[in-house]
Amino acid sequence: MMRNLSAFVALVSLASLHGASAAETADHGAKIYQRCAACHLPTGAGVPGAFPALAGRVGVAAANDAGRDYLVMTVAAGLMGEIEVDGVKIRGVMPAQAGLTDADIAAVLNYASSLKAPAATAAAKPFTAEEVAAIRGRHAGANPTAVHAIRSGVFDGAASADDKSSGPEK
Ligand code: HEC
Repeated sequence: MMRNLSAFVALVSLASLHGASAAETADHGAKIYQRCAACHLPTGAGVPGAFPALAGRVGVAAANDAGRDYLVMTVAAGLMGEIEVDGVKIRGVMPAQAGLTDADIAAVLNYASSLKAPAATAAAKPFTAEEVAAIRGRHAGANPTAVHAIRSGVFDGAASADDKSSGPEK
């Protein structure tokens, strides 16, 4: 099952190299999101204390430049360090999502941005493969701890007031 999924994702990734329509990209994002759903759940609701909610939060971070860098690098390089989401601390590790192309990352973040929390957020500007490549270039060599260091403030305005204070520990 996982093997079939990987093969399918590889095929879809290959297809994206040849340019996908907007509709294909949305569908592509949903397919890639299946790997995120294993931890963040299909709805993006997350698991308090273990896996941060994505629904209603990714769109907020995507609305500011620092947040766009943070989202791309979390997926590309992983994340390690204490965070606080909806008032609950998480001391987890997200592994870098290996094997995703820039187009895959753009598509999955656009899909995750579309997941709504009860308090729906405005749609942010879509990610493109070109933007993902530029962000990865700017943060080349970043490890999961370095990604944590750029989290500060990126969720300002998200439903959770606690997200404000959840940047790197002092
Ligand atoms: C193996 C489980 C796992 C998978 C798979 C996974 N994540 Fe995560 N993710 C986590 C954990 C755990 C954290 C929090 C890490 C920490 O505490 O520093 C996290 C953090 C995040 C964050 C930052 C949230 C915040 O509040 O700072 C985003 C965004 C994110 N993941 C998106 C994704 C996307 C998109 C995918 C799929 C491409 C994905 N994750 C796949 C476990 C996972």
